[in-house]
Amino acid sequence: CGIVAYVGHREACPLVIKGLKRLEYRGYDSAGVALINQHGLSVFKKKGKVVALEHELIGKDIQATIGMGHTRWATHGEPNDANAHPHYSFHRKLAIIHNGIIENYAAIKQALLKKGHTFTSETDTEVLGQFIEDIWENNGGSLEEAVRLALQEVVGAYAIVIMSQTDPTQLIAARKGSPLVIGVGDNEFFLASDATPIVEYTKDVIYLNDYEVAVIKDGQLSVVTLDNTTTTPYVHKVELELEAIEKGGFDHFMLKEIFEQPRSIADSMRGRVKAEEGTLQLGGLRDYLDKLAKSKRIVIIGCGTSWHAGLVAEYIFEELARIPVEVEYASEFRYRNPIIKEGDIVIAISQSGETADTLAAIELAKSKGAIIFGVCNVVGSSIARATHAGAFTHAGPEIGVASTKAFTAQVTVLTLMALAAAHRKGTLSESLFRQLLTELESIPAKVEQVLQAADKIKEIAYIFTYARNFIYLGRGLNFPVALEGALKLKEISYIHAEGYPAAEMKHGPIALIDEDMPVVVIATQDSSYEKVVSNIQEVKARKGRVIAVVTEGDTHLPGMVDFTIEIPRVHDILMPLVSVVPLQLLSYYIAVMRGRNVDQPRNLAKSVTVE
Ligand code: G6P
Repeated sequence: CGIVAYVGHREACPLVIKGLKRLEYRGYDSAGVALINQHGLSVFKKKGKVVALEHELIGKDIQATIGMGHTRWATHGEPNDANAHPHYSFHRKLAIIHNGIIENYAAIKQALLKKGHTFTSETDTEVLGQFIEDIWENNGGSLEEAVRLALQEVVGAYAIVIMSQTDPTQLIAARKGSPLVIGVGDNEFFLASDATPIVEYTKDVIYLNDYEVAVIKDGQLSVVTLDNTTTTPYVHKVELELEAIEKGGFDHFMLKEIFEQPRSIADSMRGRVKAEEGTLQLGGLRDYLDKLAKSKRIVIIGCGTSWHAGLVAEYIFEELARIPVEVEYASEFRYRNPIIKEGDIVIAISQSGETADTLAAIELAKSKGAIIFGVCNVVGSSIARATHAGAFTHAGPEIGVASTKAFTAQVTVLTLMALAAAHRKGTLSESLFRQLLTELESIPAKVEQVLQAADKIKEIAYIFTYARNFIYLGRGLNFPVALEGALKLKEISYIHAEGYPAAEMKHGPIALIDEDMPVVVIATQDSSYEKVVSNIQEVKARKGRVIAVVTEGDTHLPGMVDFTIEIPRVHDILMPLVSVVPLQLLSYYIAVMRGRNVDQPRNLAKSVTVE
């Protein structure tokens, strides 16, 4: 979910609404705002996107210099007006917005029901708001104290912001497990779940830590821990530029981000790869490179697209550094009592750096003594801070919910890590090391070349707009790419799609193939080319319709398949960086032609900060 709050001298409501739109990629089931003005504390909320809320606000007196807003990704309770945030407390003395899950909310609710409280929603958030107010009323202390006391009882994850009727200058915020950023302006403060709604007003931000409560009152900020120890917050400078979070002439963020890849891949190598000198440096891993090179085993964890990047990395690490790798969904890893031995390395991959499952898996691995590296895109994110070392992907903010440039940046950085480890370990010859560095430097230009085929891909997309199923096939390093291609299509077009290792098709999925089944095959000229060609023949023999991603100059496949998309020749190891791009475009165009909301597909959220 997304949180925005403001207190200062500006009009709060338009600022909060604009911020919510910037954060909408974090969830968009419903939206709401709370304000304090001469009418007291008012809450407006609406099911649906932020525009629905804007309509709701027309004609209302929303003039105020303090306000907060929320855009929701439903956990407890269906998306409707009542379950939208903010929530009033029982006596309406305060309003609360919340990201995360209060796990023991049922017990707290039970106790409040016994006291005669009633509830207007099914949310855990309303329970927390009532709980805080109840303590406040019964203790006679300050609201801040009540917040601390209540949160001491809470099990779960949260980022909350509270406003109270009694003090129109005050915002209270707290976090545990869900991100919260404070923007410090000139006599004004901003709160948000990430820096994107803040950067146009100030570059000075504070990342609130777990178990901290921030109190903004009369233009002053103070931060205390839950047990009331004052802490001195560190003010960071964010480097984010406004243009990086706007569409820049593209129809959708996703398309912009796909087209940004030549630059984002270059950025993820910048200052790290110097092919001419034959050097590779990863500053964030400098002190740990030996440990990585000597590790007996690497466990890679992540979710969604990040997990796919992990699968690519598995092939590369094993091939180059000869270190056994296991890749696991973070959500499975954490509930499995995983075996971690001394010298094992865990690599956690996360674009947002906030995914709750990945964060919890890191904590578990840490408790078992693993050394943990992070591969994150968002600087200052929870995962980046929870790991021992790591390498940022530097892809820039990714706003489209379906991950594209973050994936290629993750794969780039993981490739660099594998190269560095293999070089240090001596399993990679100097000449291949240098060759791969040179090839890496040529990747941005090769991706650029693929992007030039966008119109052709669009034509193919047009033909398959109304397909109901898709199969994606690839072998070796292109198998995870097939999975990623299928995921992209599912996420944004709602077409059912499955990715399979090409040779595995005959063990089951082949039963699905008939003249209505489009099969996307990554059939580039690498060591498994001949085998993939055989797999294509198996599909064609059953009348499947094949779209093949082929190496430029392939004269054989065009005569055999229905459609081909050419990509430039790339070293096998680096192939996924290029072969995934046409699949991203294919799913983008299909989704657009089906009239889907590409940047905000239904039911999804960009960063899932709940389990
Ligand atoms: C969500 C997003 C996916 C993303 C996954 C992991 O489910 O919808 O696109 O791949 O989270 O996110 P992370 O930020 O950890 O990479």
